[in-house]
Amino acid sequence: MVIFGASGDLAWRKLVPALFNLYDSGHLPDQFFILGVSRTNWDDREFRGQMQDAVTRHCDTQSGKCSDFLSHLYYHRLEYDQPEDYKALATLLKHLGQKTGAKDNLLFNLALPPSLPPVVSRKLAQAGLSQPGPNHQGWIRVVVEKPFGHDLESSRYLNQTMAQAFSEDQIFRVDHYLAKETVQNIIMFRFANAIFEPIWNRNFVDKVVIIASEKLGVGHRAGYYEGTGVLRDMFQNHMLQLLSLTAMEPPSMWAADRVRDEKTKVFRSLRPFTSQAVDQHLLLGQYGAGKEIKGYRQESGVAQTSLTPTFAMLKVYVDNWRWQGVPFYLVSGKRMAQKVTRMVIFFRQVPHSMFRQVLGQDITQNRLFLNIHPEEAISLSFQTKGPGPVLCLRTVRMVFDYAVDPSGLSLGAYEKALLDCMQGEQMLFWRQDGVELCWSFLEPVLNRCESCGDRASRLHTYTPGSWGPEEVKTILPDWPEPAL
Ligand code: BG6
Repeated sequence: MVIFGASGDLAWRKLVPALFNLYDSGHLPDQFFILGVSRTNWDDREFRGQMQDAVTRHCDTQSGKCSDFLSHLYYHRLEYDQPEDYKALATLLKHLGQKTGAKDNLLFNLALPPSLPPVVSRKLAQAGLSQPGPNHQGWIRVVVEKPFGHDLESSRYLNQTMAQAFSEDQIFRVDHYLAKETVQNIIMFRFANAIFEPIWNRNFVDKVVIIASEKLGVGHRAGYYEGTGVLRDMFQNHMLQLLSLTAMEPPSMWAADRVRDEKTKVFRSLRPFTSQAVDQHLLLGQYGAGKEIKGYRQESGVAQTSLTPTFAMLKVYVDNWRWQGVPFYLVSGKRMAQKVTRMVIFFRQVPHSMFRQVLGQDITQNRLFLNIHPEEAISLSFQTKGPGPVLCLRTVRMVFDYAVDPSGLSLGAYEKALLDCMQGEQMLFWRQDGVELCWSFLEPVLNRCESCGDRASRLHTYTPGSWGPEEVKTILPDWPEPAL
């Protein structure tokens, strides 16, 4: 594996720790090497030192395999646009292949800022590194991380340049949300049980709320986040993937393209936004300062007048027979009360409540919670009689929790994503058509938010540690209840 951007945050925080965990649990082949590539002036020893720090900070190293693992790591300094450096890379890869015995399969991991994957793909192709040659028995694949471009045009450019170097089955577009165990489980839950599918539609579902709230602020990523904001950072990818898993039709078979076809149909069915609909169905926020917490505009690297949103709620409709009229509320933000990732399906009220006269209130709707964080659990809420002599209803939950009933090894999202790349399984990765459809869907929203004179007045400040701006209730009156 060759990690481009090896001195960056992603390699240090996620990729190398995930590779160590795979090594530790026996999921890497006997013969392999990991070559870090970046502009930083390191040698093998310095790279190994940095990665040792990454592994000891992020992984359980009790098995004592860390130094063994580090001995598989090498480093190559490279300017991303210099053809000469790629020639040297090709020579080095040959040499490392012979030295380690890992000469057949090659995985390029582009852990790079969005402007660089097109450059690197082109240079790899020019150096003859993007396709297996006549004497090459194995495969070559490339991994690219979100954001896949900055808008529709740049994502098309990214897709086109990558397509000139690699075929679609060589390209693995990672969205780490898809590799989360409980996100994968949504497909099993929906399509391996007969009892949920008949009620999974407009006749029984009242609304769906998809939440990804975070407690942390923008941290040291302001440089990236300032030009991105929550809609590009979370909605174009993670939130729309969660929506597609909830809304898609049953695929005909368990095969990457059959599943991705169904998701693509959902993306195509998203009701396009008019300017008026954006005004009614989108609410943006930015966290202000708290007691001992910096506001977004005080974070280092953020402009004092920044209008970058750190919170959004978007009400979306899927225009097909199954979902006509059912609103999907997507909510995500930084510096909120809790880190919660979950989807909540609200079922319709009972058609007539014989308890209303006695209790004086409506009956709480049945809800299905697909929890991804902090619990990895699925629960269904329903009404029961509260014990005692006086009539009262009590909401209870039926729960399945991965933590209570673990069986087998549960892989972290990056471990699973990397393992699937090595095995050539594309189910959990974005396909080019889906990426472009999601950008086309969001573009009117982004345009309306970013290029209008009333941009500042659309951005509502919220207190860190809250559930977002108060004004959210104009879109979803019972917010934040679904998150609690
Ligand atoms: C990333 C975003 O894709 O997902 C981050 O760039 C965000 O801004 C992160 O914090 C959230 O991921 P998770 O797995 O912690 O929910």
